[in-house]
Amino acid sequence: MVYLLGIESSCDETAAAVAAFDGERKTVLADVVASQVDIHKKYGGVVPEIASRAHTEALTRITRQALAESGIALSQLTAVAVTNTPGLIGALLTGVNFAKSLAFANALPLVPVDHIKAHIAAAYYAFPDLKPPFLALTVSGGHTSLMKVDSFTDFVTVGCTRDDAAGEAFDKVGRVMGLPYPGGKEMDRLAAIGDPHAFPFPSAAVAGDNLDFSFSGVKTAVINTLNTMSQKGIPFPTADIAASFTNTFTRSIVKKLDMAFDRYPLDTLVVSGGVAANSHLRRAVKELCDRKGIRLCMPPIALCGDNGAMVCSQGYYEYLAGKRGDTSLNAFANDEF
Ligand code: KG4
Ligand code: ZN
Repeated sequence: MVYLLGIESSCDETAAAVAAFDGERKTVLADVVASQVDIHKKYGGVVPEIASRAHTEALTRITRQALAESGIALSQLTAVAVTNTPGLIGALLTGVNFAKSLAFANALPLVPVDHIKAHIAAAYYAFPDLKPPFLALTVSGGHTSLMKVDSFTDFVTVGCTRDDAAGEAFDKVGRVMGLPYPGGKEMDRLAAIGDPHAFPFPSAAVAGDNLDFSFSGVKTAVINTLNTMSQKGIPFPTADIAASFTNTFTRSIVKKLDMAFDRYPLDTLVVSGGVAANSHLRRAVKELCDRKGIRLCMPPIALCGDNGAMVCSQGYYEYLAGKRGDTSLNAFANDEF
């Protein structure tokens, strides 16, 4: 049995989890997430310096709580896994330094984990028989990437955003409409009651034979529409804007996924990351997969946003592959993909 502690601090969630791994059987024993949403709310976005400070204040408490809830003592742990890339550099460093101290003070191996790979690995809990190769779409507040997962530890990026991340676009549009931060969840709710064809916003699928996205054009188009309404004193039709933006978003994603499966004849798709909680995206992707005969594996909503369990899950495979961090382990704002 392998027991892992997973630490996550790459953005605005401080998270610690303990999970047990017995071959293919993976069990989350405790998963504690301290969200900083209330702290960053008044700024309308994550303030990196404040995020780092809040992580430092929360890490010890969150980790103690995760260990206590799991019933696993520090001495029973096999290793400590920690997100060290990509993310906000100051925020990452707080988690890396904390995990380093904890691991080396307790003579435990330290396992560095990539945040995007961890988002994808969140799917293994709900789908224990899920095995690479498969395609994986990760859509979150800071990242949008399409990857070919060749093995549990080998990933190739086949498409990504050329500018803003998907969640960033949801949040910026939400902010201009005055929705509570972060706007993604409320946009999801509003989109269900609006007209998806009210506004013809431009596609986020980059034209041509590629698997890339661009969210900055559609984001600017929505914001320009809102600014024009504001100048004319027209109240924002929030539901129609949310529905039209969401429609463009889901169609763009589905278009590139469709092309990706034509290019790579794989039979499984994983969709993960905070924006994978979006109900409209989940439905559209399911329809595509049903049409193409592809198995769709999406983590439960609770494991879509940042959490420590996903760090444990990818950490397990990195641990088995022999990946280790020493006292010089660093954090990197951008990963190597
Ligand atoms: O994965 P995550 O927790 O953090 C990053 O790694 O970035 O993703 C957070 C993002 C935010 O932009 C948030 O607005 C978005 O996920 N989000 C959603 C929904 N729930 C969260 N976006 C659209 N629809 C949702 N239901
Ligand atoms: Zn994330």
